[in-house]
Amino acid sequence: MPPIVWSGDFSVKVAELDAQHKSLVELANALEESIGNKNKREVLKAALDRLLDYIAFHFGSEEALLQKYGYPEEKRHKKEHDEFSWKVLNMRGKWSIGEEVQITELHDFLSDWIKNHILFADKKYGQFLNSKGVH
Ligand SMILES: [Fe+2]
Repeated sequence: MPPIVWSGDFSVKVAELDAQHKSLVELANALEESIGNKNKREVLKAALDRLLDYIAFHFGSEEALLQKYGYPEEKRHKKEHDEFSWKVLNMRGKWSIGEEVQITELHDFLSDWIKNHILFADKKYGQFLNSKGVH
């Protein structure tokens, strides 16, 4: 699939979270590049783990902010993160032992989810956080 191209459409109007989302997109695109360059499994694993580590860090900061300001849909949002994390770790585990899951499949799932989650779930909290003075 083509790399994700960042545009203003992705902005959640909170600078710190926009910066983190940009890093997520870059790491997802970097993983795809590694796959395209037919890199060795260790290189792919390193690129995948950099992305997964960053996702965990990013979810933590987003959830902390939503909780701090009492975002009404905080629990539902966290549930989306948790379900995604669970699924990704499961896929990663299968890939790492050479079962079923292909790295392209894993990458495409990650990329699609990141894109849709920012555009549809994350963008909803922008206005709420702005109204609390978070920009
Ligand atoms: Fe989110």
